[in-house]
Amino acid sequence: MNTLLMSLIFTTMTYEMPKLPYANNALEPVISQQTIDYHYGKHLQTYVNNLNSLVPGTEFEGKTVEAIVASAPDGAIFNNAGQVLNHTLYFLQFAPKPAKNEPEGKLGEAIKRDFGSFENFKKEFNAAAVGLFGSGWAWLSVDKNGKLHITKEANGSNPVRAGLKPLLGFDVWEHAYYLDYQNRRADHVNKLWEIIDWDVVEKRL
Ligand SMILES: [Fe+2]
Repeated sequence: MNTLLMSLIFTTMTYEMPKLPYANNALEPVISQQTIDYHYGKHLQTYVNNLNSLVPGTEFEGKTVEAIVASAPDGAIFNNAGQVLNHTLYFLQFAPKPAKNEPEGKLGEAIKRDFGSFENFKKEFNAAAVGLFGSGWAWLSVDKNGKLHITKEANGSNPVRAGLKPLLGFDVWEHAYYLDYQNRRADHVNKLWEIIDWDVVEKRL
């Protein structure tokens, strides 16, 4: 697991922003600097701030973000914890020039086993991301038996709510793409594959 994510998860009192491993303009032209400035700098910061103001004095005080997402009832704490977890995994899974175009090793083999091929996996994942109605996320996750799953998560939810371990997530809230792609969600989703850091995703398995 990424050490930045671990420090976030094991922080007991204050939930923190992940540190981006790239410059705000480094993911252009797939994701513009303006989108990173707003999406990371404003939207994620707001979710982190909200969580830090909502949790103290509740039964969730001292709990990890993952534990809150897994167990909180629907409502503001769950929504903001979900978006902190989602966006932390999301922003840390990108690299300006990834070392490889597709996963290798254990993850590469599991994708071929469960989806037939990497190309077919991408097709199914794209269909989930593009077909999700309204705001939400498409996730690749793994269950306790090692089987991979593609799920659509509404709003701020995350596969941990269903006992799954999240590996790769595409944010399809309009705030993730509207400045760069306007209504063309499918174009945005197709371009995201160019900046996935498969080394990071493989380590989450
Ligand atoms: Fe987002």
